Amino acid sequence: MFFVPEIIEKKRNGGRLSGEEIHYLIDGYVRGEIPDYQISAFLMAVYFRGMDEAETTELTMAMARSGEMVDLSAIEGVKVDKHSSGGIADTTTLVLLPLAASAGVKIAKMSGRGLGHTGGTIDKLESIPGFSTELSKDEFIKIVNEVGAAITGQSKDLVPADKKLYALRDVTATVDSIPLIAASIMSKKIAGGADRIVLDVKFGGGAFMKRYEDALELARIMVNIGKLAGRRTVAYVTDMDQPLGLAVGNAMEIIEAAEALKGRGHEDLLNLCLELGCEMMVLAGLEKDKQKAREKLLENIKSGKALEKFKEIVRRQGGNPDALEDYSLLPRARFSREVEAWEDGFIEMIDALRLGLTAMKLGAGRQKKDDRIDHSVGIWLCGKVGDRVEKGKPLAIVHANDEGKLSWAVEEVKGSFRIAREKVEKRKLIRARVTAENIEEF
Ligand code: URA
Ligand code: CA
Repeated sequence: MFFVPEIIEKKRNGGRLSGEEIHYLIDGYVRGEIPDYQISAFLMAVYFRGMDEAETTELTMAMARSGEMVDLSAIEGVKVDKHSSGGIADTTTLVLLPLAASAGVKIAKMSGRGLGHTGGTIDKLESIPGFSTELSKDEFIKIVNEVGAAITGQSKDLVPADKKLYALRDVTATVDSIPLIAASIMSKKIAGGADRIVLDVKFGGGAFMKRYEDALELARIMVNIGKLAGRRTVAYVTDMDQPLGLAVGNAMEIIEAAEALKGRGHEDLLNLCLELGCEMMVLAGLEKDKQKAREKLLENIKSGKALEKFKEIVRRQGGNPDALEDYSLLPRARFSREVEAWEDGFIEMIDALRLGLTAMKLGAGRQKKDDRIDHSVGIWLCGKVGDRVEKGKPLAIVHANDEGKLSWAVEEVKGSFRIAREKVEKRKLIRARVTAENIEEF
């Protein structure tokens, strides 16, 4: 028999919890037998004392098993999942899904909605007229088998422990704890049923982890949890100190993804998608040599095969694929205004968090869970850190449906940029690749 105050006390004093103790807490909490106040104290103890890898793995598995464990065995081949720890202008999933599927990777993607300043892939896809993100289990599996990739909202039964714990962490200042984030993300990946996992762990102003060292540690722990759970995992640590692509907003990110698949995307977005795509091909056993995988993916962009795959996914999920050619079929905001550079020079900094919050307040994201999204609004950037700017030329273009909000957002976006007189180096996007055997830093 366990006594909850003793488990809390043990962690508070820096002790190591056993698997049984951790399962007892999580199971009791999900069943409603252990109250929020005891779990709050436990979370705070973990926040200050941390957890070792064995404890974090036990926590992950206890959470994963708190609800439905999705069985994807009806899908032929190796299923590879991709997960990003959340960012601004992070159009990666929208590009990577069709790109990797066009090369034969099987991807059954369950995705969340955006909350706070980070966008959610499901919300972005819903800006395509007709697109359904609520697939039945059978439809989901059928589309992956026939098309190679499908994307659906997370079922209510997936990791109920995370839903309860996340809501509690959010109001008890215990979100930014490495073991708690690792268990939250990996429990959902493991319950989601994929065989192999590619993680994109972001750091910087627009990410959960502000420091590179913390993101690297988070990546290392998640990769080891994946290994212990029998799901081979590779993690990349990437820069989110500035937005990844140029579009911040739902319909705008659909346009950006379509452009990238037509070979016209920003080089950072393209490079990250190629790198993650190669990794997925290798993990799926489709290609041994990463260079060859990269050539294949580039070829699929050039030939239009990757874009065709995106259209096929959209069509099969009820959306109008013409919207990927004729962008006027996507929601469009009534007003737009340029944010002009106030002097000649080079972009020195772009505050990703401030841009994300500005887009959210324009209506592109939710401040509360049941807020409605305005798919049409957002911000197009005209450059990234290191790019040259000229006085009076646009740094960005703001799209809004309300003139008051438009004027406000223009000032916010302007305040998000810093311009330097002297040349500024471009920021390196991909900073580390982490496997269970090895850490490569770039
Ligand atoms: N994303 C998650 O899913 N969980 C966290 O705790 C943080 C980011
Ligand atoms: Ca995401």
